[in-house]
Amino acid sequence: MIDIHCHLMVGVDDGAKDIDEAKEMIRLAKEEGIKEIIVTPHYTLELKRVYETKFEELQKLACREGIILHKGCEYKLQDAVVQKGELITLADSEFVLVEVTQTFLTEYVLNQIYDLKLCGYEIIIAHPERSFKGKDIEKLKKLGEMNVYFQLTAGSFLGMFGKQAQKLSQELLEIGLCHFVASDAHNSKSRSFCFKETRKYLKTIYTEEGNIDLLFENNPKAVFSKNEKVVTKHFKKRNFFERLFKK
Ligand SMILES: [Fe+2]
Repeated sequence: MIDIHCHLMVGVDDGAKDIDEAKEMIRLAKEEGIKEIIVTPHYTLELKRVYETKFEELQKLACREGIILHKGCEYKLQDAVVQKGELITLADSEFVLVEVTQTFLTEYVLNQIYDLKLCGYEIIIAHPERSFKGKDIEKLKKLGEMNVYFQLTAGSFLGMFGKQAQKLSQELLEIGLCHFVASDAHNSKSRSFCFKETRKYLKTIYTEEGNIDLLFENNPKAVFSKNEKVVTKHFKKRNFFERLFKK
């Protein structure tokens, strides 16, 4: 599996606080079956200055565990708009991970996202299920129609971010607005990966068992493989009897 959103870089944001924490996170990622990680610290001006050194330091640690790391960053939408033209993309692709912190999905916000797309970027919205509410679904659909992609958090499906985020994550998955499941891991304890458990859970409750891997493996791979495309799928819940008789 491939994790496209992870705060593994040491001492640059609210992610791994020291090398030992990063080592433990890498160990846990391996245990979860994660083979590649796109490292996505929160963007700051300072981050750009230290990025290369910090990334190399991490790469040495991950290499020892057989995990491949790629460069990336998580931008607040307003920062991405200001920095456009020199964004740190995911694994040197055209994909950018963007967090929308405005509570309302106004036309202005949609225009900012459109503006980034016009610059040639493919936009992945980070954790919409935690940023928005059910009433925003129509606007999120509009973004989907603009070929904007969505990354949901593994822990949200398990209820780790509350009932509202859990419900919205299922709704988004069902209407084709979940292209990636990522950890958004910040540490080795309270905000870890949850990949294995979430994948198993989703395979149990949705009929398209085979397509669940699309979210953990194939679509993440398409971010940095030129020959592959990110695929949009709608998922349908199993009914009571289907769940009862599922082996
Ligand atoms: Fe994040």
